[in-house]
Amino acid sequence: MRNSDSSNAAIPPKTRVAAVTVIRFAEMIPNWSDYHESGGEGNHRAIYRYIGDVPGTPSRAALPGWDFCSGIAMAPPGNGAPLHDHRDEEVFMVWEGEFEIFWEDPESKDRKSVVLGLYDAIRIHPGIMRGFKNVGDTEGFLYFIHGQGAYEYPVYHESLREGLPEGVRTEPHGNGRPVDPATQIVRYEECEMNFQVYHETGLPEGVRGIRRYAGAVGGEREGAGPPPSLEDGEVAFVINENRCGSGAPLHDHPFEEMFIPLEGRWAVFWLDARGEYHQAILDPWDACWVPPGVQRGFRNAGREWGKLHVIQGQPGAPPPEYHRDYSELKEI
Ligand SMILES: [Fe+2]
Repeated sequence: MRNSDSSNAAIPPKTRVAAVTVIRFAEMIPNWSDYHESGGEGNHRAIYRYIGDVPGTPSRAALPGWDFCSGIAMAPPGNGAPLHDHRDEEVFMVWEGEFEIFWEDPESKDRKSVVLGLYDAIRIHPGIMRGFKNVGDTEGFLYFIHGQGAYEYPVYHESLREGLPEGVRTEPHGNGRPVDPATQIVRYEECEMNFQVYHETGLPEGVRGIRRYAGAVGGEREGAGPPPSLEDGEVAFVINENRCGSGAPLHDHPFEEMFIPLEGRWAVFWLDARGEYHQAILDPWDACWVPPGVQRGFRNAGREWGKLHVIQGQPGAPPPEYHRDYSELKEI
C-alpha cells in the first residue's frame, strides 16, 4: 500500500530510459589516457567510470549519465589531475589514501589547497580552476561526482592547453561569482550521523545514521537532528551507516539514486514492473543505480555495522514514497 499523503510529483522525473543497473568495481575498465595531459609528469591516473564518459574516448561507463556522472580516479603517489574547471559541480571524496585538492583563487590567482583523508569531501563549483594530487605514499583512490549528466571535456587552465583536442571549450564556466571551495569542505568525523530523518528509522529494523554531506535527503523529519553539512546543490549525497540485518525499506524517488558500499557487504533490492522482488549483493565499491519509478531499498548483508554511500540525483527531494504505509509512525 502506498503512502497516500506523499508529494513526489514536485520534481518531474528525467530518467526512465535505463533499468536498474549493477556495476561491479572489478569489472570496470580504467582508462589511463582520457585527457590530452594524462601522460604528463605528475598527471598519471586511471579513471574508473560508473556513469558518464569523456566525449571522444572509448565508452567504458555502464551508463551515459542523466542526473549526474560519477567515478573513481586512482593516482600513484605524487600524481593526480592538473588545474581544470567543469560546467557543473564537482565533488571529491577520498576513498583510500590522502589527497591534496588545490585550486586557483579566481581574483588573486593565488594557489590554495586542503589535504583530505578517508571519507573527507569537498564540493567545487563552476568557475574555479582545481586539481588534485595523491600526497600519500601508496596508490590513492579519489571518488568524484559531477552534478549533471552528459559529461563534457573539462576547461583547462591556460597553462595546460598544449595538445588540447580540437573544438574543446576554453571559455571559463560559472557566473563570475564562484563559491569559495574553502567553505565547501566536509570532514567525515565532523559530519554527524542523523538517526531521525525518517519516521521508519524508529523501527528496530530501520535504525540508521545518515551523515548528510550535502543536501537534504527528503526525510519527513528533515529538521530533526544534525543538519546537512552543506546546503543542497546539484545532487545530494550521504554516507548511511547501520547494523547488520537492517536498512531502508522499499521506497521510490522522482530522481536517480545510486548506492555504493564503502565498508561491509550490502543487499540492494527492488521491485520490477510486475511487482516481483529482486536483489543484488554488493561488495565495497560495487554500485547499484536505480531510476525513478522503481521501489528500492537496501540492507546491511554483512555481520557488522557497515557504510553505504548514497547519491540522490536532484536537490530538494520530497519525502520517499514508501511501498508500505508507515503513517502510524508519524505520531511517535
Ligand atoms: Fe532512497
